[in-house]
Amino acid sequence: MTVQIDHALEEIRRFRPSPEFAAQAVADEHLAEAARTDRLGFWADQARELLDWEKPFTRTLDWSNPPFAKWFDDGELNVAVNCLDRHVAAGLGDRVAIHWEGEPGDSRDITYAELTAEVKQAANVLTELGVGEGDRVAIYLPMIPEAIVSMLAVARIGAIHSVVFGGFSADSLASRIDDAEASLVITADGGYRKGKVFPLKPTVDEAIAKTAGSVQHVLVVRRGENEVPWTDGRDLWWHETVADASAQHEAQGFTAEHPLFILYTSGTTGKPKGILHTSGGYLTQVAFTHKNVFDLHPETDVYWCTADVGWITGHSYVVYGPLANGATQVVYEGTPDTPHPGRWWEIVEKYKVSILYTAPTAIRSFMKLGRQIPQAFNLRSLRLLGSVGEPINPEAWIWYRHVIGGGSIPVVDTWWQTETGAIMISALPGITDLKPGSAQVPIPGISVDILSDDGTPVEGEGGGLLVVTEPWPSMLRGIWGDPERFKETYWEKFGDKYFAGDGARRDEDGDIWLLGRVDDVMNVSGHRLSTAEIESSLVAHPWTAEAAVVGASDETTGQAVVAFVILKASQAERINDPAEASEELRRHVSAQIGAIARPRQVFIVNELPKTRSGKIMRRLLRDLAEGREIGDTTTLADTSIMQVISAQVR
Ligand code: WT7
Repeated sequence: MTVQIDHALEEIRRFRPSPEFAAQAVADEHLAEAARTDRLGFWADQARELLDWEKPFTRTLDWSNPPFAKWFDDGELNVAVNCLDRHVAAGLGDRVAIHWEGEPGDSRDITYAELTAEVKQAANVLTELGVGEGDRVAIYLPMIPEAIVSMLAVARIGAIHSVVFGGFSADSLASRIDDAEASLVITADGGYRKGKVFPLKPTVDEAIAKTAGSVQHVLVVRRGENEVPWTDGRDLWWHETVADASAQHEAQGFTAEHPLFILYTSGTTGKPKGILHTSGGYLTQVAFTHKNVFDLHPETDVYWCTADVGWITGHSYVVYGPLANGATQVVYEGTPDTPHPGRWWEIVEKYKVSILYTAPTAIRSFMKLGRQIPQAFNLRSLRLLGSVGEPINPEAWIWYRHVIGGGSIPVVDTWWQTETGAIMISALPGITDLKPGSAQVPIPGISVDILSDDGTPVEGEGGGLLVVTEPWPSMLRGIWGDPERFKETYWEKFGDKYFAGDGARRDEDGDIWLLGRVDDVMNVSGHRLSTAEIESSLVAHPWTAEAAVVGASDETTGQAVVAFVILKASQAERINDPAEASEELRRHVSAQIGAIARPRQVFIVNELPKTRSGKIMRRLLRDLAEGREIGDTTTLADTSIMQVISAQVR
């Protein structure tokens, strides 16, 4: 089926923007031209046009000490003021910043004036709690307005936020609190998910008990109304502090390179990396891309990005990009199918959403449910669709454009990463002829290339490794507390070119196609997971002797976690049902890391395929997990081993 449609697309795979769309589009040919003529001048212009500076910068880029870049570094700005106060000062205080929709159906419209006031109140409370410039604040909240308020309040006082996705376990939260030595945790009693309240505060308590002791206070938003444990003196209610605080707060400017946030993401080792982003360059590129890639007309558009603020997409395209641009957006707390499978489309209809940004995995699960569900709602307000997180297969692209978009509106596939901070490769709607399945072209001001393993550029249409060849404003500035790992991971392979970890190829038109990760990082529902991290979790279980994890392709989630586990001989006797053992191990990983890491399958086996030097050959396990014929086994120490394992798995 997929093959047929992909094949049919060979003929019709370019979609020219409609003349009506092109005529009103924000981005024009001059942008790309300006960036080509003077790349740094182009970014300096964007930084001045899109942002308000307390102190103007005179230097655009300092790349004298690669890979440590400095952008606009003699300038000063306040990120929160750029997202809030300046819009109010410009007379836009009554514009809705956030149409917030709770999962149970409660809702709240928050104007720019109201959001500004609440951020000022929260900033005052943070200061009272002793949080100052450069201090770290962990945020562990559901998708409620207070999550956005908290991030902006932290930014406003020059502290550094570390948002931890609410689905992560106590262990994951604890290690993030410890790594950043956070002094404050902002959380909620609980939040709504799939019709139920899931508790957060008890997880925070459990996490703090496991930390080295940096946390001084816990600020708790009341949302779920669930009973929570309480530590007097340490814990404070949001509604008893922030709600009563003064809404007067003079913000000061910080230098452009002042740290804004740390966000943890999985790498090739077991330990997540704290990706560090700073202020001026980051805000410039997220504002620029949010405006030009999504063709934002802030006076009329209603924008909705479905990502959680626990991920980079939520940071850049729920919080900083849209608010810097004065956009009106929808924020939704819950899951797409609660209380009914048309919930998202009901929200699009209710708020007349015009720009929708979501992930291929969501699109594929809607495809599975059938078009009659979205078709029961009026989706005619939509005029642009975006995709992010993993390659979007042409079949899903076409379905998205036709069933959700009504057949003629642009779909932009945006490639970027936690590390890049903002969109790097995407069509520009109104200019680029769209090609389903391809992320297409670097945005203006961004230079990428495809290299072979030895560093030579790949000519023609062959595949290779994606690199960014020039520093960019929203690039990561490092890994928190680990400059060596920063250099090693991204800069060792190709010198001063950034190695993204993705395979890619260029087609005959020069459009870029992403081919997935080339390292031991999996992509499950657009979220990054490390094979090493899940393997060490499995090995930490008392029953496990050895474990190997692979990402196997999955129709809905892109990839799925599949584990192969050898039980300890001492335990194998006791466990009479392998199904029970595999269930126990799945539960264990979910509890240790978070539900997103729960393996789809855990196969209990007696052996793992290894080379003579003892390296596990995951490639062969992936063949097995995907039901393919097993590939070349000649380098195995014991070439018959795959037959034994296959028999056990089937
Ligand atoms: C990895 C980054 C960027 C926000 C969400 C994920 C994959 C991301 C695309 C795309 C093909 C994509 C890459 C990348 N990826 N967007 N449009 N087409 N692949 O952020 O968790 O940092 O993951 O997601 O493999 O390296 P992340």
